[in-house]
Amino acid sequence: MLDEMLQTADWKSEKHVPVIEAPEMVKPDQVFDVNVTLGKEVAHPNTTAHHIRWMALYFKPEGAKFPYEVGRVQLSAHGESTEGPDEGSVYTHHSCTFRMKTGNPGRLMALAHCNIHGLWQSSEKLSLE
Ligand SMILES: [Fe+2]
Repeated sequence: MLDEMLQTADWKSEKHVPVIEAPEMVKPDQVFDVNVTLGKEVAHPNTTAHHIRWMALYFKPEGAKFPYEVGRVQLSAHGESTEGPDEGSVYTHHSCTFRMKTGNPGRLMALAHCNIHGLWQSSEKLSLE
């Protein structure tokens, strides 16, 4: 099953774990930033052969049965070129910012997909003032 394929670890020692940077507490219905990045302590490669292909952010309000998808970012350029792999001059970095608001506390959850090491997850609690 897919849930058995979702990997997680401490992002300080595992380069694939998405790092969620968001306020611990926000005002109800006020827009705030959520940064999702990767490799803050241990850098992940960004090459044609090995890269992060997409990242997504979900939010599950407390008491809700299902999560909402806040957004999904496709990271498309990894040095591909007509000259060959890693001969291109464009590399999309694995970092993005979502802006969102909510009227409920809950849990932010991020997914990151490495093209050769699969799906990685992390989550952070979000409280309301
Ligand atoms: Fe990887």
